Amino acid sequence: MADLFSMKNRVVLLTGASRGLGRDMALALAGAGATVLCAGRTVKELDQTARAIVRKGGNAHAVPLDITDEADVVAKVGAIISRHRRIDALVNNAGIIHRENIVDTATPDFRKVIETNLISQFVVSREVGRHMLARKYGRIVNISSVLGVVGRASVAGYVSAKHGLIGLTKNLAAELGPHVTANAIAPGYIRTELNVPLQQNKDFNAMLESRTAVARWGKPEDLRGPLLLLASDAGSYITGHTLVIDGGLSPILS
Ligand SMILES: NC(=O)c1ccc[n+]([C@@H]2O[C@H](COP(=O)([O-])OP(=O)(O)OC[C@H]3O[C@@H](n4cnc5c(N)ncnc54)[C@H](OP(=O)(O)O)[C@@H]3O)[C@@H](O)[C@H]2O)c1
Repeated sequence: MADLFSMKNRVVLLTGASRGLGRDMALALAGAGATVLCAGRTVKELDQTARAIVRKGGNAHAVPLDITDEADVVAKVGAIISRHRRIDALVNNAGIIHRENIVDTATPDFRKVIETNLISQFVVSREVGRHMLARKYGRIVNISSVLGVVGRASVAGYVSAKHGLIGLTKNLAAELGPHVTANAIAPGYIRTELNVPLQQNKDFNAMLESRTAVARWGKPEDLRGPLLLLASDAGSYITGHTLVIDGGLSPILS
């Protein structure tokens, strides 16, 4: 059965692989046999991720890429296909957050989050999706958020983009099938640099632990199984779906 989730001989382009959830995803994908192309802006951290994979006997390469730079996305996707002959799976994981109440938020700050968390995913998926369609194989996994399913004060750009990403996922599924699947993962709260202010907030911690059925913050490794399901052949008949991985935070009213 383990073969069902195998990523052996698969080439995966993973954005936001320099740290946080993306670094753990890179190690998980490589551990399942994939060659992982680790994309992001911070080359030193990308190299660290790739080196950690190689040290464990896996295959990985750093791909310096700002996903908001459309020309660079087009060039890098083309270069990857020339060099590796294919992209079997794309994980759109890179993202940012801006915390400020709507009434105080300047338009460029809102726009930057939409640009980074939604428009870039459209551009990368379009470029990679075209190739997957022609090859008649592909897995796209978009990392949305529980805030793609519910709202929350002070992160309007993030909530809007993450809801939009779930919509984009459904359209990718509709347009890229039958051989290419597109799904989203909507993580709950997982300790990374993205949410340091919340980790330091006593009231937030109390709320999270009491409202989450499994009564704890998420850990990056909680996403490994869901990711492998959607990125491998185990998920062949799953498309257009959003898998909420939040320890029971959003489905339970407490
Ligand atoms: N942590 C959570 O609780 C949580 C919950 C739900 C959803 N998520 C989502 O999960 C994803 C990863 O979050 P995280 O917690 O791991 O955050 P993180 O630690 O802040 O990492 C964000 C990653 O995105 C990359 N990135 C940001 N802007 C980029 C750009 N313009 N081009 C290329 N890469 C870019 C960063 O790399 P560089 O800065 O090196 O470019 C970094 O690798 C995000 O989409 C986030 O919204 C996280």
